[in-house]
Amino acid sequence: MNRLILVSNRLPFALEPVGDGQWIAAPSPGGLVSALGPVLRGRGGTWIGWPGVAGDVPGTSFAEATRDAGYKVVPVALSEAERDEFYYGYSNEVIWPLFHDLQSFCHFEPAFWETYKAVNERYADAIARHCQPGDFIWVHDYHLMYVAQALRERSVHAALTFFLHIPFPPFDIFAKLPQQQRLLRALLQFDLLGFQTRRDLRNFLQCVRRVLPDARVFPSSGLQHIRFGGRAIRAGRFPIGIDFESFEQGALSEDVARRARELRAAFPGCQLMLGIDRLDYSKGIPERLRAFRVALERHRELRGRVVLIQNVVPSRVEIPRYHEFKDRIDRLVGDTNGRFSTDTWLPVHYRFRSLDRDDLLAHYRACEIALVTPLKDGMNLVAKEYCACCVDQDDGVLILSHFAGAAEQLKPGAVLVNPYDVEQVADAIFKVFRMSDAEHSVRMKRMRRIVRNEDVFWWVDLFLKAGSQLAARSAQTAGRRLAKQR
Ligand code: UDP
Ligand code: G6P
Repeated sequence: MNRLILVSNRLPFALEPVGDGQWIAAPSPGGLVSALGPVLRGRGGTWIGWPGVAGDVPGTSFAEATRDAGYKVVPVALSEAERDEFYYGYSNEVIWPLFHDLQSFCHFEPAFWETYKAVNERYADAIARHCQPGDFIWVHDYHLMYVAQALRERSVHAALTFFLHIPFPPFDIFAKLPQQQRLLRALLQFDLLGFQTRRDLRNFLQCVRRVLPDARVFPSSGLQHIRFGGRAIRAGRFPIGIDFESFEQGALSEDVARRARELRAAFPGCQLMLGIDRLDYSKGIPERLRAFRVALERHRELRGRVVLIQNVVPSRVEIPRYHEFKDRIDRLVGDTNGRFSTDTWLPVHYRFRSLDRDDLLAHYRACEIALVTPLKDGMNLVAKEYCACCVDQDDGVLILSHFAGAAEQLKPGAVLVNPYDVEQVADAIFKVFRMSDAEHSVRMKRMRRIVRNEDVFWWVDLFLKAGSQLAARSAQTAGRRLAKQR
């Protein structure tokens, strides 16, 4: 088994100052770290990434935080300016909105690109310093699309693989990116490129064809072949999964069962509907709140009988758009509660903070309905985690956006909706409110089977298998290169 070198912008720990030069390490937010954490804990290896704090990494706190990780952790430091221009700027004010089809949210500042390249070069240096021949180098997500180019410039010829956790946009949207050619050329310096869904893969290949006339795409039923600049590149669809067993077992634990019972008891006579999202405009939270409001207007039977528990995890709040977005959510929650609440019933229970794991699992287990309605999402792990935690006679129904990557796999069981169509979502809420337990169970069983079979370990094996063949080929080429030099 080759040593795994995993590289992502975020490490699984984010350092936070607590005063007097002291730091604590909190778990990092987001699906990338929650999916990859169990993988590296199980296999061992090295994780290279940013510990979430600008400036020098406080050495002792970092060593303490990572001592029991079960793998080697290599921090990459970012200055404040780099955090602002690389992380907030190019990654989250250019690529993130553009790749989620929200081009009007983009802030195309040329300086961001220069910093993006410079920080990707820093990551490349860290990889070059820590990798050995035979390592499996796996770079993750949109922050690091330039890393392979930087490594090639440093004469690293090892096989390099990449997985994009977020969607890849269609050509008409990608074409707005000022650096479209440079970015695609850089991506084609990887040997294997993985995407979440067939749609993302198709969009990527379409962009390669349209933006790089010198590239040749050879369609195939499995991995797609691309030839560019004398190199062969493979691209495929690898839908990320979750650690199903750990979620299921966690949900079955006595502590979680007790918390779930307490949560249900707090809302007697009500069906519980759950929304769990990072604070992000791609998650469709305002549209969901509006849909709930329409449902309460249209279907009086829902009043006093349904509660929406909406949990929002703080994220990227230093970007003004995220800040404004939070104000919008606050107003919508206030408006709905102001209009419909009674002395004994509050329609929306809203929290703006992260839940600890047991609390999260208790929410998944306690709620009869999950509303996962992003405007666009790479995968959406919350949808899968909810299914894994529906352990009470497969009770639970998932209302899922067509535009979440998870819809490609979960469509046999989910109630699919267009999140922009608030009336349709409102009617879906009413439909599932009246859905029989038998139908809940049939639908949930189908989804649980898929989420269990295609879990995160299945996903890793699929990707590593595809990548290992390339790694073997590149080792042979390196051997030949060495022999020639001698
Ligand atoms: N999550 C969490 N605590 C919370 C809410 C969510 O740890 O209070 C985790 C959740 O378990 C999931 C991740 O955050 O693994 C969200 O991943 P998803 O793919 O749904 O969206 P992302 O935030 O990556 O865009
Ligand atoms: C998504 C991205 C991840 C990112 C996460 C949290 O899942 O795909 O790369 O880490 O959101 O966002 P943040 O900006 O806090 O890293």
